[in-house]
Amino acid sequence: MNNFVYYAPTQVIFGKNAEAELGNLVKDLNCKKILIHYGGRSAEKTGVLNKVAKAVEDAGIAYVKLGGVVPNPHLSLVYEGIELCKKEGVDFILAVGGGSVIDSAKAIGYGAANEGDVWELYNGKRKPDACLPIGVVLTIAAAGSEMSNSSVLTKEDEGLKLSCNTNLARPKFAVMNPEFTLTLPDYQTSCGCTDIFLHTAERYFTSNGNMSITDSIAEALMRTVIKFAKVLRKQPDNYEARAEVMWAGSLSHNGLTGCGNKRNDMATHMMEHEVGGMFDVAHGAGLAALWGSWARYVYKDCLGRFVKFAVEVMGIEDGEDKEAVALKGIEAVEEFYRYMGMPTSLKELGISPTEEQIKKMAHLCSLACGGTNGSAKALNEEDMVKIYHMAM
Ligand code: NZQ
Ligand code: ZN
Repeated sequence: MNNFVYYAPTQVIFGKNAEAELGNLVKDLNCKKILIHYGGRSAEKTGVLNKVAKAVEDAGIAYVKLGGVVPNPHLSLVYEGIELCKKEGVDFILAVGGGSVIDSAKAIGYGAANEGDVWELYNGKRKPDACLPIGVVLTIAAAGSEMSNSSVLTKEDEGLKLSCNTNLARPKFAVMNPEFTLTLPDYQTSCGCTDIFLHTAERYFTSNGNMSITDSIAEALMRTVIKFAKVLRKQPDNYEARAEVMWAGSLSHNGLTGCGNKRNDMATHMMEHEVGGMFDVAHGAGLAALWGSWARYVYKDCLGRFVKFAVEVMGIEDGEDKEAVALKGIEAVEEFYRYMGMPTSLKELGISPTEEQIKKMAHLCSLACGGTNGSAKALNEEDMVKIYHMAM
């Protein structure tokens, strides 16, 4: 095992009517003015936004609102939010939505608390010293941003999608009522389950140095997500399944399922961010489209882990021919994606990048990773080109 730091400071309020605690939570933070930040239409349509605004009002705290966050959130709205926060004296941001809204809130929080262009915190030119405190009312189980250190932002005019990862932006609290996710379209539910599954899978495929306890937690989490994602495919109104998936989403990306591992892999994630930046696809679907190709490209370099995964997570029978077992595990994951209505290639995702676009994505990805990326196998730019090709 490797030494590790586990830091998960977010207070989680989970379950039916969890939002009833919102007033107390914001009062305890002694803030003067809140920015309520939200997305396109869903928070308004479902009534969640009204509930949140009323809770803040009842707590006697002033607020301003800024909606309009799109999936793969845009830098331009972040600039608008930063201006608004400065003008209004906002000292707390409440994100009502999913990964995109939370990440946009984190970016606004950075921009309002640091001098200079916030994008420079994402393109690696500078590091942030502070972030306005963030609270979350989660409406989709997926990205895990409600407990993560990460914010992923798109500079839409250049098609660049980059992240800024610091503990400064970890939310103070996350209100999670699984009922809020009952209104999700099936496609978004499936995208979310794919992302949750892969946040742990990407921590699992490491070259060596794994703890048994972390493996056991990770395997249980992945089995649980598969089980309840399938339930939701047939019964989207199943509250228990919504709750299982929602909690898995937070645990899958708050660091727990990687403790003691020799680095996380995250290569599929990094390669997907380029696809999302260039083609504006849903994150989970982009991951599903790439993962099988990544897995087939790297499995021989990490055979023991792929065999363990196949047996412990996907229920494949172990055998003499270890490569065959590993490949069956990969096929079983793709079968799961197909069951969930997810793509297993870029074509099925609905995009066909040109050679030039593939090279650009690989180049930007390797730059974003500082040259190479991956723990199961360290991938350079050339490897990434090959994987994008395989995924066509
Ligand atoms: O915009 P609205 O109308 O709200 O619709 C949203 C959006 O279209 C809809 N939605 C959300 N809650 C709903 C709902 N529709 C009906 N009922 C509800 N209760 O769902 C759509 C997707 O929302 P989004 O926030 O984009 O989804 P997700 O949580 O998957 O976030 C994706 C973003 O997070 C980033 C991704 O790259 C992507 O930009 N990630 C962030 C991470 C982090 N910060 O730690 C890690 C992840 O790996 C990921 O990269
Ligand atoms: Zn993800």
